[in-house]
Amino acid sequence: MTSTMTEKIDHPTAPGDRLPVVVVGAGAMGTAWIRMLATSPHAVPVGVVDLDLDLAASAVATLGLDGAVVGDSVAEVAERAGAAAVVNVTVPQAHRIVNEQALRAGLPVLCEKPLAPTVAEALRQVAIADLTGGLLMVSQSRRYFNHLAAFRDAVEQLGPLAAVHAQFFHADHEPGFREQMAHPLLVDMSIHHFDMLRYLTDDVPVAVRCSSWNPPWSWFAGDAAATAEFELDSGARFVYSGSRCTPGLQTSWNADWRVYAERGAASWDGDDVVRVDAEGIGFDVPARPEGIEASLEEFVTSLRAGTTPQNEVRANVLSLAMVEGAIRSSERGGERVVVAELLEESLAQAITDEQRDDVAGVLRSWTSAADGIATPAWGSAPAAIASGGAQ
Ligand SMILES: NC(=O)c1ccc[n+]([C@@H]2O[C@H](COP(=O)([O-])OP(=O)(O)OC[C@H]3O[C@@H](n4cnc5c(N)ncnc54)[C@H](O)[C@@H]3O)[C@@H](O)[C@H]2O)c1
Repeated sequence: MTSTMTEKIDHPTAPGDRLPVVVVGAGAMGTAWIRMLATSPHAVPVGVVDLDLDLAASAVATLGLDGAVVGDSVAEVAERAGAAAVVNVTVPQAHRIVNEQALRAGLPVLCEKPLAPTVAEALRQVAIADLTGGLLMVSQSRRYFNHLAAFRDAVEQLGPLAAVHAQFFHADHEPGFREQMAHPLLVDMSIHHFDMLRYLTDDVPVAVRCSSWNPPWSWFAGDAAATAEFELDSGARFVYSGSRCTPGLQTSWNADWRVYAERGAASWDGDDVVRVDAEGIGFDVPARPEGIEASLEEFVTSLRAGTTPQNEVRANVLSLAMVEGAIRSSERGGERVVVAELLEESLAQAITDEQRDDVAGVLRSWTSAADGIATPAWGSAPAAIASGGAQ
């Protein structure tokens, strides 16, 4: 391990001060996080961890983080830097390991999406949060867009929903883990859109049918395109189409949305155009922080107030279950996959996979997966968040 400093640094953590955090993962998104944190009123980056030490050191130097500690061990860097929390921006398959290291070291974590590649791995993390009593929040940063909040405001007034449609057509070239995944669209991108659906309505996903494929010209190894239809608890449908290798007519990264309901219809282009076709329905566009800045704000606020953030680990499991349900359905030729069954099968898998007795003990103590994710592990009440509203 190398470090730019050897002495432990004391940082103020009182309300009003910036929370000292270690960023784990100094890749493309980690760099974006460090850049945002460097000027955040809520937190300050005091350490950077990456398996690639040169990359971590170069991020610290490039972004001018004087005195930040660099290393490859989360607990050690956090200790030396006097950090009070961790922001996990590693690749999805490393999320559980890093989150566990941090939580066991007594550090709350804000973890990039997707929480894990599978629901079974997500449930193991719920158990770790349970065991340690620490806050584990998933940064689903696309929940925090002011025009999404406006769209939600309009949709809430439309009465019972018939259907929500979302279309995502993009073409992104980001060599690395995405281009090697079996399901780069569903696992790495649609998780945002499925989670946004859960923000948009209080409806609960019940079942899914999905078809995924890889267009012949795709530069992804796995399926870069999919269509999925979700049944929601109310009887409404969520109809989704997406592609990461669309040569033209691209949508916003946030997808293009349309809802129809008893009292009318509404749409959002994913950027700054919300339209409503219904008598007497208006909406407000808030002016608040968006994206990862807003996600960080909710994390720090929840930590200090002891409240439950929107995407506390347990709440996020259902968004992930939508992803895995879609993948299962696609791999089984479009078979209808029931989310509740997927959750219970994932709990059995989690118990089989878990090597640590204490974590396995927590998983075994749940009467069901539904029971395990029923009560937030952290916080006494939903946080009153300025940016985007609690679900
Ligand atoms: N919210 C968004 O809009 C958004 C956008 C892009 C990426 N992301 C997410 O951010 C995460 C990182 O994506 P990226 O594009 O920066 O990936 P990346 O491959 O560029 O960087 C990941 C870094 O993590 C490091 N790493 C891997 N395992 C580690 C471990 N165990 N300990 C320490 N470091 C480790 C790697 O060395 C690498 O430097 C992913 O989960 C991705 O889905 C989110």
